[in-house]
Amino acid sequence: MNILVTGGAGYIGSHLVRVLASAGHACVVYDNLCSGHAAAIRGTQLVEGDINNHEALAAALRGHNVEAVIHLAALIEAAESVENPGRYFRNNSLGGLTLLEAMRSAGVAKLVFSSTAAVYGQPERIPICEEDRTDPINPYGASKRCVEYMLEAFARAYGAGFVSLRYFNVAGAAPEGDIGEDHRPETHLIPLVLQVPLGRRGSVKIFGEDYDTPDGTCIRDYIHVMDLAAAHVLALEAIEPGQLKVFNLGNGQGFSVREVIEACREVTGHEIPAESAPRRRGDPPKLVASCQKAETELGWRRQFADLQTIVAHAWNWHKSHPNGFA
Ligand code: UFG
Repeated sequence: MNILVTGGAGYIGSHLVRVLASAGHACVVYDNLCSGHAAAIRGTQLVEGDINNHEALAAALRGHNVEAVIHLAALIEAAESVENPGRYFRNNSLGGLTLLEAMRSAGVAKLVFSSTAAVYGQPERIPICEEDRTDPINPYGASKRCVEYMLEAFARAYGAGFVSLRYFNVAGAAPEGDIGEDHRPETHLIPLVLQVPLGRRGSVKIFGEDYDTPDGTCIRDYIHVMDLAAAHVLALEAIEPGQLKVFNLGNGQGFSVREVIEACREVTGHEIPAESAPRRRGDPPKLVASCQKAETELGWRRQFADLQTIVAHAWNWHKSHPNGFA
């Protein structure tokens, strides 16, 4: 299929483009490069444009005979979204609407949407299932949930077909080690911990050690970026006209912040000093996915499920590219 990947030059997008190409799809990346890196998608066509530019989107869809869209372009910092909600609703929610309308005008009726575990807010149970209550606790999660509502309405009104994938904590890098995570500034746990053995920081902060979890630190479900990418290929095949299907994408297993730091120590052989810090605003104590639906309905199987492998692949990338794509 001819696929337009919005936000395709970002961390997840660049891995996704690689996986789509090896599955035989032709990709065009649409990205404003505000956080993406052209160097991450060498050899893939890049259209530079903003997600709120209807004309540029419609032209890209028509000009490349696009048959399906995978929509990743978004701002992703939950904490920043609390300080600057307008920016998040404009980029993520309004951007989603602009894209849907551009798709309608170009006659493209298939889309896979990058959603997030943040739509659940404080989960009512663990593991979290897709039908559980959604009640986002920050504008980031709300801005993504808004788009899911739009998808539901557009599917019903126009017969378009959509899949929304709710990502848990995406980590790791391509096993080849040539692409990986390069956020500026970096806020995610694993790349921050790995900055210590890289010599870029002296220690890592643990945000809160008084949560109601076995070791007092937050528990998250870490999913390898290549496994996450592979689910999008299956999601494309699962699209049905007039429907929105929703799937969680995680590992189904939770690890605490302390356990992640320990895994990084084992992989890198570095002692990685950790210091206690106050809780970070808006962090739920525990987020773990039930991924049964993706396994059963999409036939999704994870290839790199264990945390050591996820960290080892991330380390491989950071070690060989200490300055990222710079
Ligand atoms: N953490 C630390 N120290 C750090 C960085 C993070 O202790 O230096 C902790 C956080 O408090 C959290 C855990 O490590 O408990 C994971 O934090 P990340 O920032 O790596 O990831 P989040 O769980 O906050 O965020 C992820 C996605 C978001 C999404 C969210 C859904 O990156 O886009 O899951 O809840 F919104």
